[in-house]
Amino acid sequence: MQPPRFDFCQYFGFVFLSYCVVPRNQITQNYVQRSVSNSFVTDYEWSSVNFTWPSRSAYEEALQNGVYIPEHNALIGIKVYKDRMYLALPRLRPGTPITLASVPINHQDDINEVGEVPIKRNLLLDPFPSWDMNVKTSCTTLQNVQSMEIDRRGIMWILDGTRINDFTKCPPKLVLIDLNNNRIVSRHIFTPDIALTEGGFLNDLVIDESDGGYAYITDNSALDPGLIVYSRKQKRAWKLRDRSMFPELDATNFTIDGVRFGALAPIDGIALSPLNPRRNEERIVYYTALSGYNLYAISNRILRNERFCKGDQWRAYVKHVGRKPAITDGMIIDNKGNLFYGLIQSHGIGKWNIYEYFNTAREVVSNSREIIWPDSFAMDNSGYLYVLCNGIHKYFDQGHRLTVSDEVKFRVLKLYTGNKNYMYSP
Ligand SMILES: *[C@@H]1O[C@H](CO)[C@@H](O)[C@H](O)[C@H]1NC(C)=O
Ligand SMILES: *[C@@H]1O[C@H](CO)[C@@H](O)[C@H](O)[C@H]1NC(C)=O
Repeated sequence: MQPPRFDFCQYFGFVFLSYCVVPRNQITQNYVQRSVSNSFVTDYEWSSVNFTWPSRSAYEEALQNGVYIPEHNALIGIKVYKDRMYLALPRLRPGTPITLASVPINHQDDINEVGEVPIKRNLLLDPFPSWDMNVKTSCTTLQNVQSMEIDRRGIMWILDGTRINDFTKCPPKLVLIDLNNNRIVSRHIFTPDIALTEGGFLNDLVIDESDGGYAYITDNSALDPGLIVYSRKQKRAWKLRDRSMFPELDATNFTIDGVRFGALAPIDGIALSPLNPRRNEERIVYYTALSGYNLYAISNRILRNERFCKGDQWRAYVKHVGRKPAITDGMIIDNKGNLFYGLIQSHGIGKWNIYEYFNTAREVVSNSREIIWPDSFAMDNSGYLYVLCNGIHKYFDQGHRLTVSDEVKFRVLKLYTGNKNYMYSP
């Protein structure tokens, strides 16, 4: 008998999570997904990443001494706040002077005289919060940033935790900066039992603003993958490790845009269900390995209980949600419960409403020319969803030679949804 799915799971799905998602041991098929609409438009594109240098001589000197090797600079994390778009730049190769930057957003400029939306090309990036904070003078500056999230008060939580190469010997950290005055609010340094200084890879995070604020962080480390919980109030972090966070052996070895992806990459994409006053504070965290087809979920009630997470019972609360037809890097949920996620091999974006069965998930757009490795998502407060497509596997593969050319390497596509992000009530 079919359960009275729609109403029941919409209103009580969080309480009866085990009933409303597919059981973990159930064998699930790759669902056939199809395009239902395509209204993503290219908003920004870059063939080369360049910055607002302090002076012409500073730029020329950096080019000459290899501090800046233009083709090695990539964009990896995207978030928006008010009139700025913030971009993280990974230090995966030499010659990457800046690891966090911003560019302006101006919706007024969107439509030109002939009624078209011009694409913003090769905008210079402004180092954020400053040049000095991007220079490796001490461990208090930003070393290697992968991702960030911005809470409703405008505090940016920055994951400075890419520690997979010898670019820095500084321990991974979480830095909070208030975007209203660009002041550093706090720093939390992770101890090696939580995130490794050599081999750690803090990859992505969501913010749960309840009880003083929590960050749920994926550690994509090959050595010690897991889900890290950070409590801002307690200034403490703890880590959950489970086989659902491991790479799946059949979810690798693909060719994307002519370059092979052969990594066995663990837990990576993470999304949090929206605030819903009817459900008190319970929220569901969704996650997936980069080399993985399966989507998993766990309640924040479990995650926030440090003592319980240190026992052996919490793993029984990990739920298998479903199986995607492709691998996923970043994901995001809006305030209506729509999960957007990349479908890397099909050059697409998937969409699933978390209050419905997973077999209602659809690929809403697919485009092999523009959607090359959909990596990171963001939502602004004007109803736009943004996705950064960056072909990032080419930068991770040290054997792949990068060159300067006019070819577009990074694109930000946007879609008007009229919704806000998961931090807001429906
Ligand atoms: C890079 O940006 C600087 C300004 O900060 C500019 O002077 C320089 O010409 C730019 N380089 C290229 C190749 O566009
Ligand atoms: C990867 O795929 C290629 C082509 O399908 C195959 O020849 C190769 O053996 C695979 N490599 C691994 C490590 O599975």
